[in-house]
Amino acid sequence: MTEQDTDRQSVRASTEIVLVIGAGTMGRGIAQAVAEAGHPTLLFDADQRNLEHGLAVLETAWERAVQKGKLASSDARAARTRLQPAQGLDEAAAAAIVIEAIFEDPEIKVTLFRELDAIVPESALLASNTSSISITRLAAAVKAPGSFLGLHFFNPVPVLPLVEVVRGLRTDEATVNRALGFVRGLGKTPVVVNDSPGFVVNRVLLPMINEAVLCLAEGVAGKEAIDEVMKLGASHPLGPLALADLIGLDVCLDIMRTLHRDLGDDKYRPAPLLARMVDAGKLGRKGGEGFYRYDR
Ligand SMILES: NC(=O)c1ccc[n+]([C@@H]2O[C@H](COP(=O)([O-])OP(=O)(O)OC[C@H]3O[C@@H](n4cnc5c(N)ncnc54)[C@H](O)[C@@H]3O)[C@@H](O)[C@H]2O)c1
Repeated sequence: MTEQDTDRQSVRASTEIVLVIGAGTMGRGIAQAVAEAGHPTLLFDADQRNLEHGLAVLETAWERAVQKGKLASSDARAARTRLQPAQGLDEAAAAAIVIEAIFEDPEIKVTLFRELDAIVPESALLASNTSSISITRLAAAVKAPGSFLGLHFFNPVPVLPLVEVVRGLRTDEATVNRALGFVRGLGKTPVVVNDSPGFVVNRVLLPMINEAVLCLAEGVAGKEAIDEVMKLGASHPLGPLALADLIGLDVCLDIMRTLHRDLGDDKYRPAPLLARMVDAGKLGRKGGEGFYRYDR
């Protein structure tokens, strides 16, 4: 039996409640993976409509997975039963693990963690799914920064196997080990990295996307051509502009701004076209239009 099989078995036997905060693109994907792995799962969002929408999207995802034969209907039913909406943050009092996936804004996240700190049990593991904000900075908002770390899932969560496990300056080794077991139990592959702006994936990926936007703005090539060359010439499954639409152009812009500000190097300057598109409300797939148009 592999280490991963053992972790999965122990998760199935576990009754650790996992609270996921934010029912947007990432939060609902994380909640899906966590519920499917056997954890009682609570999903909370400050916006009731977003919570209801997130739950409806999950319902459809489970129906489709069953129709396509990817999930047994009994497993889908069990996962659906395990996932419950949380009516308020006070439900964090029952959580063993909290995963935050709200807007990529340090002030909003710090405020949430301060609030959570007064509610969660002392033994709780606190994690942020931030793409680029310093884990060490977020951890400073809580009394026990040793129990705080980054769990950086990738979009779409049910499909992509990687979770960057981000060790902040004050994260305890026991917390890292607990997180490794939890992530393996979800059937994902954890890779431990140290806290630094953008960690590894976004530090490498986002400047490439930003460069593709600059190429588009400068007229080096059209959007389809830029995406085509990167698919055929670099073996990328998706071109950088289509990938930006998938991630969300607002999320891409936030990450570039963080890299620029926190690393202090102008090579991370966000492409002005990216900022203009966000100003225009063209946020990518989630809004129906980004570099491409999507049927909603
Ligand atoms: N989109 C991606 O591809 C991706 C990938 C990896 C990590 N991330 C990170 O995951 C996080 C979430 O990103 P997303 O794309 O899911 O965002 P999103 O905009 O789709 O969803 C965010 C949700 O958080 C809710 N929210 C905001 N403030 C809240 C609060 N104080 N309390 C409770 N709920 C609140 C919003 O109502 C919204 O439903 C961000 O930190 C982002 O950087 C995103």
